[in-house]
Amino acid sequence: MSLYKHDAIVPLINSPDSKKQQVEQMFDKIAFRYDFLNHFLSAGIDVWWRKKAIKELKKVHPKEMLDVATGTADMAILASKMLGPVKITGIDISEGMLDIGKKKVEKLDLQKKIVLLKGDSETIFFEKNSFDAVTVAFGVRNFENLEKGLQEILRVLKPGGKLVVLEFTRPSLPLIKQLYNFYLSVLAPKVGRLFSKNNSAYQYLNDSVQKFPERKIFVEILNKLGYKNTSCKPLSLGICSIYCGEK
Ligand SMILES: C[S@@+](CC[C@H](N)C(=O)[O-])C[C@H]1O[C@@H](n2cnc3c(N)ncnc32)[C@H](O)[C@@H]1O
Repeated sequence: MSLYKHDAIVPLINSPDSKKQQVEQMFDKIAFRYDFLNHFLSAGIDVWWRKKAIKELKKVHPKEMLDVATGTADMAILASKMLGPVKITGIDISEGMLDIGKKKVEKLDLQKKIVLLKGDSETIFFEKNSFDAVTVAFGVRNFENLEKGLQEILRVLKPGGKLVVLEFTRPSLPLIKQLYNFYLSVLAPKVGRLFSKNNSAYQYLNDSVQKFPERKIFVEILNKLGYKNTSCKPLSLGICSIYCGEK
């Protein structure tokens, strides 16, 4: 039995398109402003969160890495600098996001180390046991079928390989919770709409964060799928969390 109704939260309620199609179109549209809004809305803390997540892989010394839902490749670029793997492959369903990522990779002359490809987390086009480590930053919330995506990641991980997921969570301290809810439901959609010229994207951010299975439930999903040594570490008063699991 599924612990989570995966396709329930979509960017556009009245659209006939699937969640995956809507998510792809939405990220294509906001790609040009994605990096700016990411850093602006998080006041730059996202870079620290990413670094903390990547540090979870230091002991693995990964040679082959996969960054799922790589978007504009921030995670892949940082992982390449911090861990020095032989190769990082980034996959994403949004060509718009990948195009921005490819430009950043070229500018840093990392084309030999980072390869970005259009690809879906739910049908990953690699053989089983291909990667020492897999990262997903702010991506799992957008999967149409969360469990299928996590199952596919487990399949392509090598035995002993490690998954690190970075995702928003909901803080539990009362005052922080209220401030966070105000920020996410009122401020972020307004600022997001202003800069991205997209009415629904940052409202979807709020809705998807509010409904996403977090902490204990997310760890239960990982366990149920067969991940071992699973954990959840809250960051910044619980606004964000790092989940780990091994094959
Ligand atoms: C919030 S962005 C995160 C991008 C990047 N990982 C980061 O940390 O900035 C979410 C990304 O997930 C991608 N995505 C959503 N569903 C996906 C799927 N099924 N397979 C691959 N990528 C997906 C979207 O296209 C988008 O680029």
